[in-house]
Amino acid sequence: MVRRVQELARQLGIYYKKSRYLSPNAMPWTRARVQWEFMRRQSYVVWPLYGPVLKAFKEGRLEIDQNVTLLPGCWLNLGTETARIRIGRNVYLNGNLMVASYDLVEIGEFSAIGRGALILNAPHRTSDPNIPIMLQGMEGNGPTRIGKNVWMGNNAAVIGGVTIGDRAVIAANSVVTNDVAPGTVVAGIPARATKRVSPRPDVATTGSIDGAVASPEA
Ligand SMILES: CC(C)(COP(=O)(O)OP(=O)(O)OC[C@H]1O[C@@H](n2cnc3c(N)ncnc32)[C@H](O)[C@@H]1OP(=O)(O)O)[C@@H](O)C(=O)NCCC(=O)NCCS
Repeated sequence: MVRRVQELARQLGIYYKKSRYLSPNAMPWTRARVQWEFMRRQSYVVWPLYGPVLKAFKEGRLEIDQNVTLLPGCWLNLGTETARIRIGRNVYLNGNLMVASYDLVEIGEFSAIGRGALILNAPHRTSDPNIPIMLQGMEGNGPTRIGKNVWMGNNAAVIGGVTIGDRAVIAANSVVTNDVAPGTVVAGIPARATKRVSPRPDVATTGSIDGAVASPEA
């Protein structure tokens, strides 16, 4: 009987450790503290939010500016000590976005990232044939920088340490593996430039930046 209780306690301990690592935001008090951090930045997150967000806030590895919106199911995977995510003001992150960072991942102000988009820069090592890939560790390939006022379509992916220039547009379902010049539309797998984002003075825009916390020029 004692042995069965000990075994149960051991299994519970393992399960608890896994849940602390894999669902760090599950507890209501953690959720409240994460929401507090967002509230203080005039930002908003729709639950669920995945990833060790509170720890990263405390360690200064997660920086979220004012008026940032996260829709449900975003996963900020800051799994390693080197991982950093910096999100500029007025950024809009649609649901089910995954950011996996080993290095810095930066998203510039006023960028809008589509639902199910992937920003992946935490490459597993694959070179040792005798060790499972998941146990080989990771290696960085430099920061991923997404500029200001970038529009990334649904399910688009950005892979590796690339830089996407300001006002670029990434078409839905594209996979970006190289730098994108500012003001360029890219599409396809791998993403290639299809055209420039050209001003259309003949077409009236419907929005204004009055409601935004800060203007893009500020
Ligand atoms: C990038 C985008 C804005 C371009 O729209 P557009 O300026 O009207 O472009 P066009 O439809 O004229 O297409 C230009 C070329 O790119 C190609 N293209 C457009 N979108 C593509 C995509 N997602 N994947 C591959 N090729 C694409 C077109 O086939 C066309 O190629 P062609 O010249 O050989 O015929 C649009 O395709 C897109 O992906 N929008 C994102 C939608 C989205 O995800 N919304 C949800 C978030 S709010």
